[in-house]
Amino acid sequence: MKVLKDQQQRLQTELLAWGNQHRRALPWRETRDPFLVLVAEVMLTQTQVSRVATIFPSFVQRFPTIAVLADAPIQELLALWSGLGYNRRALRLRECARSIHNQHQGLVPDDYRVLRSLPGIGPYIANAILAQAFNHRVSALDTNTRRVLLRAFFGTLEQTRELQRKADELVPAGQIWTWTQAVFDLGATICRPQPACAVCPLQEGCLFQGRGDDPHKTPRRQSTFEGSHRQLRGRVIAAFAQGVTTKAELARHIGLSDSAFDQVYNELAQEGFFEPNTT
Ligand code: ADE
Repeated sequence: MKVLKDQQQRLQTELLAWGNQHRRALPWRETRDPFLVLVAEVMLTQTQVSRVATIFPSFVQRFPTIAVLADAPIQELLALWSGLGYNRRALRLRECARSIHNQHQGLVPDDYRVLRSLPGIGPYIANAILAQAFNHRVSALDTNTRRVLLRAFFGTLEQTRELQRKADELVPAGQIWTWTQAVFDLGATICRPQPACAVCPLQEGCLFQGRGDDPHKTPRRQSTFEGSHRQLRGRVIAAFAQGVTTKAELARHIGLSDSAFDQVYNELAQEGFFEPNTT
């Protein structure tokens, strides 16, 4: 048991040292403001880091506080979100800001359960906020960080709750933010689904070392229908964000007025993309 603990500590130290030397300069890393961390993490679920890095600065320049975002006009919100995809997240983020504004005195809660009760905040985002903005000793587990920790420290697939508990215990008190960034960075650059073990700082002692079953599951592939449906949704939202507001104008702009367009339009209206006066 002691050998295992020593080994873990050695790996932790290696990872922290590597993280300090190789930290990627990313715009949200310049702040610990809980609101800005929340915005970044919402963007970072489902959109790649390089794309978020180009969009996050202009978004938070226009919507720098909870109060401003809570009051965001929908077209401007969607225009500044454009390029991130999965636009429903933008609406949910505004709902989240409204909820914090109205029910939490405008302060991002520093409590897991309260965070989870907010629109769009799942276990990953709640923990990512607690670790990075409030210095709580918790691990932000998404697909990438889970893969890194399973490979290096735990080896086999664990029950979610058990993994969360063990991953939280690994977070070094006093270096919570640094640790969080190091795990993100290793997962993004070296411990990728196809890992580069030869240059990994954890190669001595890592339980995986490119061998055996990769505990990382590959995501389900999107069907052709889902792909084209999503693309059409994206085109309608982009036109709307640029100021094309009525259904007839949108159909003309897109060059479609068939049942596929109707379906997408109705779906978006129901999801709250169009203000009532534009439908
Ligand atoms: N992926 C998800 N959250 C991230 C973060 N804060 N930094 C880098 N990559 C991330």
